[in-house]
Amino acid sequence: MSPKNLSGKIALVTGSSRGIGRAMAERLSREGASVAINYVNNSNSAREVVAGIETAGGAAIALQGDVSKLEDIQGLFDQTIEHFGRLDVLINNAGIRISKNVADIKEAEFDRLFAINVKGTFFACQQAARRLSDGGKIINVSSAVTRMMLPGYSIYAASKGAVDQITRALAKELGGRNITVNAVSPGPVDTDLFRDGKSEEQIQQMAQMAALGRIGQVQDIADAVAFLASEAARWITGQSIHVNGGYV
Ligand SMILES: NC(=O)c1ccc[n+]([C@@H]2O[C@H](COP(=O)([O-])OP(=O)(O)OC[C@H]3O[C@@H](n4cnc5c(N)ncnc54)[C@H](OP(=O)(O)O)[C@@H]3O)[C@@H](O)[C@H]2O)c1
Repeated sequence: MSPKNLSGKIALVTGSSRGIGRAMAERLSREGASVAINYVNNSNSAREVVAGIETAGGAAIALQGDVSKLEDIQGLFDQTIEHFGRLDVLINNAGIRISKNVADIKEAEFDRLFAINVKGTFFACQQAARRLSDGGKIINVSSAVTRMMLPGYSIYAASKGAVDQITRALAKELGGRNITVNAVSPGPVDTDLFRDGKSEEQIQQMAQMAALGRIGQVQDIADAVAFLASEAARWITGQSIHVNGGYV
């Protein structure tokens, strides 16, 4: 890839104040894209991401919005398009994980997880279907757990399975406008979401499960997303690309 192959493109990355989303936003900016940084609570962190991008010579804005609320999703699109003029790339990254055995999951936990991971992705895709530029790119963040049989992961894996299916249907719906729709499915990646509730020993065990013998780093996922957002990936659509160092 040439160093600046997203020059002039406008990208919205949900959940980009931290973790994988932050790395994706920073990577897209290094490729020349102007980026909208979305957060739900951590305004300081989002402002830090924007400041870092601006210092490096890029353009970014921080936008508060809870992707589990349709009104907030509409607001993210309104503000991005108002500020930058249009939208070319949507990355549906915001997500949470709840890992508990089926017997212990509460209705409110199910509803919250599906509201963020599935409803958020679905309605952001709906806004993109209405408002993304022709030739645009949608990348949804799924997970390696869709290929596994992991105890404690029933609702999280179910939510990511839904993300994969939204991706496939939308790829057909938007192909006529030359918009590609793909999912990227990370294995374990070293972030707050991943470390929550795990011991160092468990983390080392998971690292050894990967063919490449380590836990993923946010940059590993951001590089794959930068490729999918680029013209070089023009013939890839409707796919879930597993980026996991040979974990599954
Ligand atoms: N880490 C892994 O091992 C792994 C593996 C496979 C898939 N994934 C997926 O990758 C994505 C990112 O995960 P991560 O590990 O980077 O998570 P993370 O470190 O916990 O970061 C989550 C990001 O999402 C934002 N967010 C959370 N709830 C939101 C909401 N309701 N509306 C808008 N933004 C919201 C957070 O904003 P605030 O800073 O404001 O809280 C933060 O920017 C998720 O979809 C996750 O399921 C992660």
